[in-house]
Amino acid sequence: MTATTASATRLSHFGSVLDLDRAQRIQRIKALLKKEDAVLVAHYYTDADLQALAEETGGYVSDSLDMARFGHTHKAQTLVVAGVRFMGETAKILNPEKRVLMPTLDATCSLDEGCPNDQFSAFCDAHPDRTVVVYANTSAAVKARADWVVTSSIALRLVRHLKSRGEKILWAPDRHLGDYVRRESGADMLLWQASCIVHDEFRAQALVELKRQHPEADVLVHPESPASVIAEADMVGSTSAMIEAARTRPAKSFIVATDNGILYKMRQAAPHKEFIEAPTGGHGATCKSCAHCPWMAMNTLANLEETLLKGHNEIHIEEPIRVRALRPVERMLNFAASEKTAVLGLGNA
Ligand code: 13P
Ligand code: SF4
Repeated sequence: MTATTASATRLSHFGSVLDLDRAQRIQRIKALLKKEDAVLVAHYYTDADLQALAEETGGYVSDSLDMARFGHTHKAQTLVVAGVRFMGETAKILNPEKRVLMPTLDATCSLDEGCPNDQFSAFCDAHPDRTVVVYANTSAAVKARADWVVTSSIALRLVRHLKSRGEKILWAPDRHLGDYVRRESGADMLLWQASCIVHDEFRAQALVELKRQHPEADVLVHPESPASVIAEADMVGSTSAMIEAARTRPAKSFIVATDNGILYKMRQAAPHKEFIEAPTGGHGATCKSCAHCPWMAMNTLANLEETLLKGHNEIHIEEPIRVRALRPVERMLNFAASEKTAVLGLGNA
């Protein structure tokens, strides 16, 4: 055997040991979920293994609005939320009687971090005439100060609704999403200035060049991206809406401007279509971001198993804060439900 063949054999042996390890871990997690009466709810940006596991075990993979809805209606006593901290907190706000666990409590979000409660409260105090609308990517304390919570899938519709009632809006924390909603709705909106470190990295000029190389491709953009990137989009929407667009639009290839964890679901939804990641570095960039949320990536099979085994990483929220945060979260869910009913022609919102 040559040295190259021997090392290839060692590598493939190493690979199959890892595969076996992974398969055994997945089996142990499945058994633990059953034993603990737990259901796994994962965001589209988490590792493909976690998404597959959620689907195989009767759990759910979705955007942040549907994660909240699913956890609220499922009968399991323990919700295991694979995503970032605000997603676990939203689950707890809605389900105080349930145990909410996360594979890691360190998975935060740059929007949540960029909107500290004390500064946000002062901002609200300075503008008492405005309706406070906060993105779901915020702490429970910030939600507790809000009139409404929204996710990207419902933000524009809700702001249009508030505008039609003559309300002026204070928006936090994502400046790009806020700016997009303001442009589309024409509402009077005062914007907090945080941003998502993943979407902020997409580059419009490089995207224009990529479009030239793929003139047949549709461009799908998440509205946390800068306005110049959104301007190049064929479709702008939440993660769920982007996947639906990939499935239903006639195009055979798509340029995708959001976290690349979403490609697992897009390929599942449209297996014969091609997906190209939108560029994150412009001309002359010496380093590029990987278009993958570092906090979503902290969720792994290993820490999920450990969490289920030890029952740690539980979400706790002080009850007065939870009760105050519940109101705007419930308002969002009720608004989403009434919109759905109206869209289906089953009644009027
Ligand atoms: P969605 O609500 O579209 O899933 O977005 C959540 C998020 O964190 C996007 O970066
Ligand atoms: Fe937050 Fe951006 Fe990560 Fe979404 S992708 S969780 S907005 S940092």
